[in-house]
Amino acid sequence: MNTGVEKQKETFEDIYSESNNWSYWDDTDPLTRYLLDRRLQIGVKNLMKMTNSSPQDWDVLVICGGVGGEGSVLANIGFRSVTVSDISENAMQGCQLRDSRLKTKVMNAENLDIPDESYDLVLVQDGLHHLPRPVLGLTEMIRVAKKAVIMIEPHAGIVANLLGTEWEAHGGAVNYVFRWNKLMFEQAVKSYVLQMPCQIEVIRLWNHNLVMDKVGKICGGGQRGKVVVQLCYFLLDLFARWLGNMAIGLLIKNDPIDNHN
Ligand SMILES: C[S@@+](CC[C@H](N)C(=O)[O-])C[C@H]1O[C@@H](n2cnc3c(N)ncnc32)[C@H](O)[C@@H]1O
Repeated sequence: MNTGVEKQKETFEDIYSESNNWSYWDDTDPLTRYLLDRRLQIGVKNLMKMTNSSPQDWDVLVICGGVGGEGSVLANIGFRSVTVSDISENAMQGCQLRDSRLKTKVMNAENLDIPDESYDLVLVQDGLHHLPRPVLGLTEMIRVAKKAVIMIEPHAGIVANLLGTEWEAHGGAVNYVFRWNKLMFEQAVKSYVLQMPCQIEVIRLWNHNLVMDKVGKICGGGQRGKVVVQLCYFLLDLFARWLGNMAIGLLIKNDPIDNHN
């Protein structure tokens, strides 16, 4: 195992064993719920529109899924089955305790221990930049996806250069914050799928949940805070195409609408 992967595993085993209170993922407060669900809702809504389908026809695998917060959101959205994977065994135990609807599998995202095309959809959120080889993580997702991939990761650009961190440190592990853009996503995808007809999209948006949580709470929290934050994100997203700090990469495999050129 690559030492970067080993360090991440050690660190996250500690993080996930230190606390078994992951209940914030199940919070029903409208503001918190909006912040937790927003990026996943946008990714799934766009995918369903692009494929003209509905979540109940899809089996999903989440990689780098921690204690399954994203998995629960996807189960709430109505996906047929949701499997959460992570390199941390403690995370998978926490996931099983948190939400019995979720299946779990301990796996290294750089070397997924499952056959090609095992799941209809493979999704990651805030996970690839913890890998020493983020592009390998993406191509593994593509390999094990039958129909589509959703990648929710930082977007490169001026805001990230000015305000973003280059390195993240959790416990003893350090990771480089790898940021994407449409060209990079397209190139990584095409190098792997070659001339397979695919749809490739990158949605660029704003995401700063810590700041937005504060703004929402200052404005009264709950439903009222949610509306204020929705308005803030709406205004910020008017400039997101040029300045957004978050990328939602969407890949639909074997799709006759060919966006390769
Ligand atoms: C910042 S956390 C995000 C977790 C989850 N997506 C969430 O938002 O709650 C990064 C996750 O990546 C996992 N991870 C790090 N390296 C990994 C690897 N090589 N394979 C699979 N998971 C890994 C960690 O254990 C951790 O759960």
